This record gives sequence, C-alpha cells and structure tokens, in this order.
Amino acid sequence: MKTSVCIIGGGPSGLLLSQLLHLKGIDNVVLERQSREYVLSRIRAGVLEHGFAELMREARCGERMDREGEIHDGFIIAHAGRQHRVDLHKYSGGSSVLVYGQTEITRDLYEARDRMGGTVIHNVEDVQLHDLTSPAPHVTYRQGDDIVRIDCDFVIGADGFHGVSRKSIPRDVLKEYEKVYPFGWLGVLSRTKPVSPELIYARHERGFALCSLRSQVLSRYYIQVPLTDAVEDWSDEQFWDELKRRLPAEVAERLVTGPSIEKSIAPLRSFVAEPMRYGNLFLAGDAAHIVPPTGARGLNSAASDIHYLYHALVAHYQQGDDSGLENYSAKALARVWKAQRFSWWMTNMLHTYPDSLAYDQKLQTTELEYLFSSDNALGCLAENYVGLPF
Ligand code: APR
Ligand code: PHB
Repeated sequence: MKTSVCIIGGGPSGLLLSQLLHLKGIDNVVLERQSREYVLSRIRAGVLEHGFAELMREARCGERMDREGEIHDGFIIAHAGRQHRVDLHKYSGGSSVLVYGQTEITRDLYEARDRMGGTVIHNVEDVQLHDLTSPAPHVTYRQGDDIVRIDCDFVIGADGFHGVSRKSIPRDVLKEYEKVYPFGWLGVLSRTKPVSPELIYARHERGFALCSLRSQVLSRYYIQVPLTDAVEDWSDEQFWDELKRRLPAEVAERLVTGPSIEKSIAPLRSFVAEPMRYGNLFLAGDAAHIVPPTGARGLNSAASDIHYLYHALVAHYQQGDDSGLENYSAKALARVWKAQRFSWWMTNMLHTYPDSLAYDQKLQTTELEYLFSSDNALGCLAENYVGLPF
C-alpha cells in the first residue's frame, strides 16, 4: 500500500489530522490498534477550548458539537466552604470554553471519516516504523497472519502515551521529562442532574474534588484518592459521601446521587518528550506529552500540535514549503510547555499532598486568596483555561 501520510493512532489527534488533510486532498491512512467500539467506550474529559472547536469546524465535524455542546463562560473554585466564580468571559477578553465529551468528538470524527471514505484500519497488531530518517519511510503491521507494508512520505505518531511511535525514536535522541503525582482521580459518571450548571473545582483538606457534566442529565464527578486505592475499594455510596464532605455545604445539600454507570481511577502525571520530530516521524498529542486533568488541557494541548502539523503538511504539499515541518517541534513544544505549566499550577493549588508541610498548606490558601483578590491573577488563569493562542 502507498499513501502520503501514515497516521498511527485513531484517537482524536489522529482522526482530526486525517480529516483535515483529506479535505485538502492529501492522501492518508490511519492505523488503530483497537476496535472502534473499544475506542468509543473510553470515557475522557469534556472541556474544549475555542481553538480546538474551530479546528473541528474547519474539519467539517462541528455540527453536533455546536448543537449539543454547552458554552461555559465561567467556572467555580470552592475552598474554605466558599465558592468563587472565575468569569472566563470577562477575564479572557470575551472567550469561553465548550463542554462536550471527548468520546463524542471521537464519534463525530469517525462518522466524518466514513462519510468521506477515509481509510481507518482497526485491530492492527505489531505496528513497526522503518527508515524514519530516509526520504521514503515505511510502516508495517500485522493483521491475522498477514504482514502489511505501507510506504509513505511522513509518519505521524498520534498513538497516545503507550504507543509505539515515541519508542521508535532512538534513546540518545529523545529526552523525556516526567513528574508523577502522589495521587489519582476516582471518576464517576452518573445519569443524574449536574449539581451546578458550571464546573466546580474544590480544594479541601481531605482532598480535591471536581463536579463536571456531560449534559443536563449526565454528571461527571471526581475525587482525589491515594495511588494505593482501587476502584473496588469504593462503593457508590462511599463515593457520594466523600464527594459531599469535600464540597461547600450548600452544594453538598443539592447534590443528586444515583448509581454510577462508569467508575475508574486515573493516576496524575505530567510528561513531555523532546523533540517531537525525528526524521520524517512527527509526534502529536498524548504520544508526546500528557498533563494531569486539573486544567482540562489534555485534548487542547493536542489541538495545537494538529493545527501546526496540518498547516505544515499543507504548505509542503501545496507550496513545496518545508519551513512549517522544520519548525514544528520547537513551535509545538513552546505551547506544550505552557499547558504543562498551567496544569501543574492548577494541580498544586488544588490538591492535598500526603507529605505537605504546614508552610505549603499556608501557601496554597494564600495562592487562592491572592487569585480572588487580583484581576491580573484571574486574567492569567482565564487566558490559560480558555487556551493560549496557537
Ligand atoms: N498502533 C496503533 N494504534 C495505537 C498503538 C499502536 N501501537 N498504540 C496506541 N494506539 C492507539 C490507541 O488505541 C488510541 O486509540 O492510538 C490512539 C491514541 O489516542 P489517545 O490516547 O486518545 O491520544 P490522542 O489522540 O493524542 O488524544 C489526546 O486523549 O488521553 C486524552 O488527555 C488526552 O484529551 C487528550 C487526548
Ligand atoms: C471532565 O468533565 O471529565 C473534566 C472536566 C474538567 C477537567 C477535567 C475533567 O479539568
């Protein structure tokens, strides 16, 4: 098989790039290890920044997102029993975020790929990347007993944190930066009315809690838990009781509880791999960097990679201009690190650390007091939360 761009990974990053390139007449193939059903069963975060939503529209995939997604002009930070609203609209110069589940984004992208007759090959095993530093790289994979070879100009590693692409870069070329946090988030999805029309991020001595939503009848809640906890340790009842303890009384009182329809624990980690290019391999999204979910940056961090790569590939194929490809890694990493900084800052400000000093705790409360006493500090939070420009 021959194609121009071989994309490894059929998550949101890979599918969005595939769709955008196809619309510009650039031939591409997506290779995905899992079945479509499996990919669409993964529950992920649900806050989209403006730039990501714009890319979805450009990819002609924004219709359902714009119909069903909710525009949020602000969110709440709760601490010491009180609620403070962050007015995103006011402090970011009129911007907002869109609440729409990442699973729905992925579903919309798959449907668009089907409509356009895009090539997405599922259940591929043993994907291997070859001759990446040559002008003619190729990718092989196994499907049943057959080994299939795809010759291409470029390979895009959009295969997530556990993918094969990053691992195909020699160890002496790649530098990895990592920070593992000493806690995880226990998340529950429930068919209940959300406790608040806007997200509530709550700091509490017992640990962080988050009230989020997918729609007016579907809520998503999280509580910080030790890394040693397992999902089986938490009955629904225990989860709701603990969540209520961490919320301001007036919020806890109106919380509607119900059976969980999904419950899982995600450890919190920050990770960046540099550079994001090796020869004709380009990394994008979770394959190159991950953030803790506190700042809702995960998918949004991937969005700028896709934006830069898309424009760089179009310039290569349409104008013979390779400057975008040459600058890709440096440009993408500059924004990636800013998203890392913001996620790290939000995580530190809102979580309880097992070994924190009384001094650290004082600084945490001072940070929050300062935030809500300064328009400049709120402006800084808002411009990062709605997404820095690409
Ligand atoms: N071969 C083919 N596909 C692979 C391989 C492989 N060896 N390894 C992983 N994959 C697939 C995974 O099954 C997954 O569907 O690559 C896809 C990567 O998708 P994501 O992990 O969703 O990563 P990405 O598309 O970059 O999306 C970033 O996802 O994890 C969240 O917070 C993150 O919101 C962000 C978004
Ligand atoms: C979610 O809805 O799953 C969600 C929202 C905001 C975050 C993290 C997760 O910061």
